[in-house]
Amino acid sequence: MKLLITGGAGFIGSNFIHYWLKKYPDDQITNLDSLTYAGNLENLKEHENDSNYKFIKGDICDPEVVNDLVRDCDLIVHFAAETHVDRSVMGSRDFIRTNVEGTMVLLEAAKNNNKKIHHVSTDEVFGDLNFEGKSFTEKTAYNPRNPYSASKAAADHLVRAYYHTHGLPITISNCSNNYGPYHFPEKMIPLFITNLLENKKVPIYGEGKNIRDWIHVDDHARGIDFIIQKGQVGQTYCLGGDSEITNIDLTKKILKIMGKDEDMIEYVKDRPGHDLRYAIDFSKAKKELGWNPKISLDEGLKQTIEWYENNQEWWKNIKSGEYQDYYKKQYGNN
Ligand code: NAD
Ligand code: DAU
Repeated sequence: MKLLITGGAGFIGSNFIHYWLKKYPDDQITNLDSLTYAGNLENLKEHENDSNYKFIKGDICDPEVVNDLVRDCDLIVHFAAETHVDRSVMGSRDFIRTNVEGTMVLLEAAKNNNKKIHHVSTDEVFGDLNFEGKSFTEKTAYNPRNPYSASKAAADHLVRAYYHTHGLPITISNCSNNYGPYHFPEKMIPLFITNLLENKKVPIYGEGKNIRDWIHVDDHARGIDFIIQKGQVGQTYCLGGDSEITNIDLTKKILKIMGKDEDMIEYVKDRPGHDLRYAIDFSKAKKELGWNPKISLDEGLKQTIEWYENNQEWWKNIKSGEYQDYYKKQYGNN
């Protein structure tokens, strides 16, 4: 099979490519990525000379580039997006462009060439839950509350609209918070681990009572694989890690594994519109696909911390590169 991966130089896309080429070594992958600040070819160094892997630097908003690549593939797996909520608070233009317009360009190309597309989405489209609220399911009404999640919600609606209107073969996954190797150190887990490795404090927004459900990126990749192999066209599948935890408790876990004291915590101003809680009920994926997450949060966190300890050049290059300006604006000199 020939797969066109969009956004494969980012965190989840690159982990998915590693997963796929290991499991299906006879398949061919083309990775289309415009290499924004979040795209990094270092993530895929071990495949750069593989005959069944090809990288194309290009923008998913460019219909010509996209159409040629779509024509030549059997299946599109669409990861490319602007993904950081804090950046979407600072400005939403790039989010609308890539996440909404870029998805539309891909859908048009898929329609014109009659190709199947799996769209990778997020649990953030469902909005936020209170502490007692029932976990999100595929039937939960959309209620996005920040520009990032609004742009992903718009993309999801477009994908479904192309299925209903044009009969385009689509599937969608809505997944919770991923963590693991190659996670860009602006997101909470890699930011906190790398700060602690540099002996810097970790900035918790507000009181740290917000809850996220964490899933190891390999479990997410397996979930997408199961949907590609066994999912029904036109259907959406929620994927979660079965690991809900408050930010403060997660931070204490990281501090404990890394042998650091709680005085490394710094409480900082809260994120505007900060969703209180995300939680996923993945029983549809379990029942219909036989998928469930396998890596526990404790085990996955230990592995992830080890990865950041052993790959300091990877994240130090990022933290000292052009991302530095954003980092300073966001976190000061901490
Ligand atoms: P990321 O920010 O690490 O990577 C995004 C990639 O997309 C980068 O390589 C970037 O260069 C590329 N890209 C951005 N704009 C592009 C454009 N216009 N054309 C081509 N490439 C472009 O993101 P991630 O965390 O790996 O997320 C991947 C996908 O999974 C996104 O769609 C995101 O919404 C979704 N998702 C993420 C999480 C999570 O916890 N990170 C959870 C659920 C769903
Ligand atoms: O739920 C899925 C989503 O998870 C994905 O769709 C997004 O692309 C991904 O970025 C992630 O969004 P979050 O906003 O939940 O992730 P982030 O790592 O930015 O924040 C996790 C929690 O930690 C959140 O409650 C905010 C908090 N936080 C974050 C940072 C960066 C802090 O307390 N301090 C921080 O410095």
